[in-house]
Amino acid sequence: MEFKEIKIGRHTLKYPIIQGGMGVGISWSRLAGAVSLAGALGVISAIGTGYYDNRSFVSKQQFGRPSDTEQFYNREATFQIFKDARKICGDRPLGANILFAINDYPRVFRDCCEAGADAIITGAGLPMNMPEYAQDFPNVALIPIISSPKALRLIAKRWEQRYKRVPDAVVLEGPLSGGHQGFTYEQCLDPNYQLENLVKPVVQEAQRIDKNIPVFAAGGIWTRDDIVKFMELGASGVQMGTRFIGTYECDAPQAFKDLLIGCKESDIELLQSPVGYPARGVRTKLIELVDKRLGPPIRCVSNCVVPCRRGIEAKAVGYCIADRLSDAAEGNVETGLFFTGSNGYRIDRLISVNDLIKKLVYGENC
Ligand SMILES: Cc1cc2nc3c(=O)[nH]c(=O)nc-3n(C[C@H](O)[C@H](O)[C@H](O)COP(=O)(O)O)c2cc1C
Repeated sequence: MEFKEIKIGRHTLKYPIIQGGMGVGISWSRLAGAVSLAGALGVISAIGTGYYDNRSFVSKQQFGRPSDTEQFYNREATFQIFKDARKICGDRPLGANILFAINDYPRVFRDCCEAGADAIITGAGLPMNMPEYAQDFPNVALIPIISSPKALRLIAKRWEQRYKRVPDAVVLEGPLSGGHQGFTYEQCLDPNYQLENLVKPVVQEAQRIDKNIPVFAAGGIWTRDDIVKFMELGASGVQMGTRFIGTYECDAPQAFKDLLIGCKESDIELLQSPVGYPARGVRTKLIELVDKRLGPPIRCVSNCVVPCRRGIEAKAVGYCIADRLSDAAEGNVETGLFFTGSNGYRIDRLISVNDLIKKLVYGENC
């Protein structure tokens, strides 16, 4: 199978591959810029941008954390991330990933569009009113992340009725993916909810809505053979996250990359999260402490996501997601939370983004 270029809204990708947004601080300027330069869609994570460039854009801190939502999702830092990525990829398509569950979603959406995003990818909740925020940005492609045909049906119905608009593409994320899942813990293990079984019904639903909505399959995809398998099932392309962590350009600190290189399959688990969904990550000493409710203090300085209810859920599950993910982004192995997809243990060394894209397009021996 030859991979062909693909249109998403008003933009064209050379290869049908999206690099999934990874927050905090895993897909920022260097990774997303390099991926877009190589012909796939690089995606900047809009989460916790206050931590960019050693927090140099943060004007208000408490306990060493960006204080409150505005500082955590920092507008100036977001602009700088886009500027730095554009130095690498020029005017090639470049996206942003914004979780629907964050506080300040409309403002962060606007920040990313003004900073120059060509596409916005949104999961962690059903983005029922996403087009409302895009009205001033007609060139920005809208890409919801969904985990079932029903979710796509609900989103498309609302968008058509209210905004006369359909998604420009969708990402279908199955339960082997890294970070937060769109499923319950039990569903993640249930064969009926595995990506292989979701692609056909979701593609059918997408085609019923509009013949031109490409579906990108995500979660556990590693090789060109995997990509071909999902494209043969009807997907137009894929979104991949974890494998991009194993690149020199990935913005994650070396300690994050080394942790994945050193981890075993059995170290990767579904964990509880204050966001309200199970999340896949590496079982480190932190998780042992959190299980015993002996983790670092929970202070809710950054007020990051709506479902956490200003730290109530964080206290219930034993950790603050903003603090723990940003500690991972700063390379703190003791207190960081390290998200990974179920295949994270397969990273054994770092390669360049360009070599990775070549392997995905032409095969592992390239
Ligand atoms: C470290 C890490 C952080 C992630 N953060 C986000 C995020 O902020 N928003 C999001 O929509 N998906 C996030 N994801 C999911 C990825 O974008 C991607 O869809 C998923 O990891 C695909 O599965 P794979 O890792 O097996 O390729 C994250 C994944 C990882 C590994």
